[in-house]
Amino acid sequence: MKTSFMQFAIAIVGLLIFSDTIHAAGPDKAALMKRGQVVYTEYCKTCHQANGQGLSTVYPPLAGSDYVKTKGAKVVTDNVVNGLKGPIIVNGKKFNNVMTALPAKYTNADAAAVITFVLNSWGNNGGIVSEADVKKVRKASK
Ligand code: HEC
Repeated sequence: MKTSFMQFAIAIVGLLIFSDTIHAAGPDKAALMKRGQVVYTEYCKTCHQANGQGLSTVYPPLAGSDYVKTKGAKVVTDNVVNGLKGPIIVNGKKFNNVMTALPAKYTNADAAAVITFVLNSWGNNGGIVSEADVKKVRKASK
């Protein structure tokens, strides 16, 4: 039992070193986008809609959002993982509602992926959020 665990552990370490070599350039954007789209469709889309256009005066748009552009990746990450409430203005329209924190079933890696997906979709101006970035802003779960 012990031996096979050791072999498993060694294999994992080997794999990590191997994949690290491949991804030496940093987070893999294509992989983040792919996973991000899945999380978006599964979760965010209900409110922010399929093309990030938002819904009436309840759910603000993510597509071409000046809020996303001016607040930047760090604030957006905080809003998504910890939640957001109170008055905000997005593309000249006032919203005063509540977005609950990202459900715990989504990992920091999932959060990084979906935020990267939003930052790089529908005319938004790009950027990459890593799992480590999410970890820094995510409040300790209760
Ligand atoms: C249950 C509905 C709901 C879901 C699901 C939801 N949001 Fe939101 N989101 C809101 C509301 C409502 C606001 C505005 C809160 C306020 O008025 O302060 C908001 C605001 C935002 C904002 C800032 C304003 C803007 O439009 O630029 C961003 C960015 C955002 N959401 C991203 C996401 C992402 C990414 C997901 C999926 C991980 C997500 N939201 C899931 C309801 C939701």
